[in-house]
Amino acid sequence: MKVLFLDQSGELGGAELCLLDIVAQISCDPAGRDALESQVALLSAGPFQDRLTQANIDHVVLRERPPHPKDRAFFSRRLRELFSLCHCLGDLIQLARNSDLIYANTSKAMVMGAIAHLITGRPLVYHLHDILTPQHFLWLNRNLLVQLANSCATQVIANSHATQQAFIAAGGHMAKSQVIYNGFLPEQFRIEPAQQQALRQSLGGKLSDDETFTIGCFSRFAPWKGQHLLLESLAKLNDPQVRLLLVGDSLFGEEAYVLKLRKQVERLGLTEQVQFLGFRDDVPQLLALCDLLVHSPVAPEPFGRVIVEAMLGGKAIIAPAEGSSPELLRHGQTGWLIEPRSSESLALAIQTLKAEPELRLRMGQAAAQAAQQRFHLYQTNQAIFELLHHTLNPDLMVASPVTTGVP
Ligand code: UDP
Ligand code: GLC
Repeated sequence: MKVLFLDQSGELGGAELCLLDIVAQISCDPAGRDALESQVALLSAGPFQDRLTQANIDHVVLRERPPHPKDRAFFSRRLRELFSLCHCLGDLIQLARNSDLIYANTSKAMVMGAIAHLITGRPLVYHLHDILTPQHFLWLNRNLLVQLANSCATQVIANSHATQQAFIAAGGHMAKSQVIYNGFLPEQFRIEPAQQQALRQSLGGKLSDDETFTIGCFSRFAPWKGQHLLLESLAKLNDPQVRLLLVGDSLFGEEAYVLKLRKQVERLGLTEQVQFLGFRDDVPQLLALCDLLVHSPVAPEPFGRVIVEAMLGGKAIIAPAEGSSPELLRHGQTGWLIEPRSSESLALAIQTLKAEPELRLRMGQAAAQAAQQRFHLYQTNQAIFELLHHTLNPDLMVASPVTTGVP
């Protein structure tokens, strides 16, 4: 049986990295069920496509025309987008007819997937990676997604309880939704000291200085990811021993925000302390160099792969007490939760944890242990494969979900 995975992006965002890990294992189900076949259809090209090629995953790019660069007016831009989406639809319907199930991995993919479902009758599963709140979505888009999920999807996979609750609060059917966290391979986060040393030297500067306290922030650059808040906190902290590695880049057209951040660094006199590393493929290795991780989104984070990655890397992490963080981290035990959107609260947390190396060590060890138990890729993929088999054969018995539990 074949599953058609549909994703709107060719970029390497968290939703795409999550999908990659699912599809890479789909053909070798360790539970011994009939393996599922897969095909991935993308609405645009990009580095995600290269990763799919490297992993030998069957995929196709349904060419979506980019909006005209001069076309800034809201409605004509939306019309153009709609037109280009319709353009892909013919190809998509053909692919859907050759598959047994459609799996929509992003919001636009959900809209397209719902149309393909209505035309072909193939069952539809929606992997919801977004928190459907006013901070993230316009009312119209939020309602469209919820109504489509309610009427067309057989199952909605929410990437956290926070995401599931927002879906239900927006009118989504609770009975259709199930929480399945993103999964990870813990061994990828065990880094040898020799590897760390080489990387430390290649980054140069103060990193090789024993006095330096290195903070890492690993996120794509977007205003809601809140890198600006972290810079404000650093300025408030006014501690020259603190060094910040800003890892990531704008993936979805937020170049203006990156420029703003660079100017903010200059304005706040932080050029000696902040290093922009761009988008990197060696996140686990970079994580290993950090004394502390900070995740400072200014809107609720749906899941936040970077939080779990920091946990698996055995690092203390600071995150806001909203969105998914309170279900991923237990304050003072596996992480440090702060008041959301408060640069004072963040500065104070950094100062506290910098002064407490033993607490950081203890929290990092407890976090790694908790993350290995709760976010192992084999477990989360089992839950997803189970759900797919059940959708294809509704008479199959289903085991209980594996992803609940305390942080
Ligand atoms: N990431 C990466 N290179 C970078 C910055 C981030 O590979 O330079 C990865 C990071 O390790 C994580 C993902 O991008 O797996 C971001 O996912 P997350 O869920 O944290 O946020 P999203 O961008 O999907 O909202
Ligand atoms: C989305 C969300 C992020 C989540 C990722 C994977 O990109 O913004 O919070 O971790 O999907 O589910």
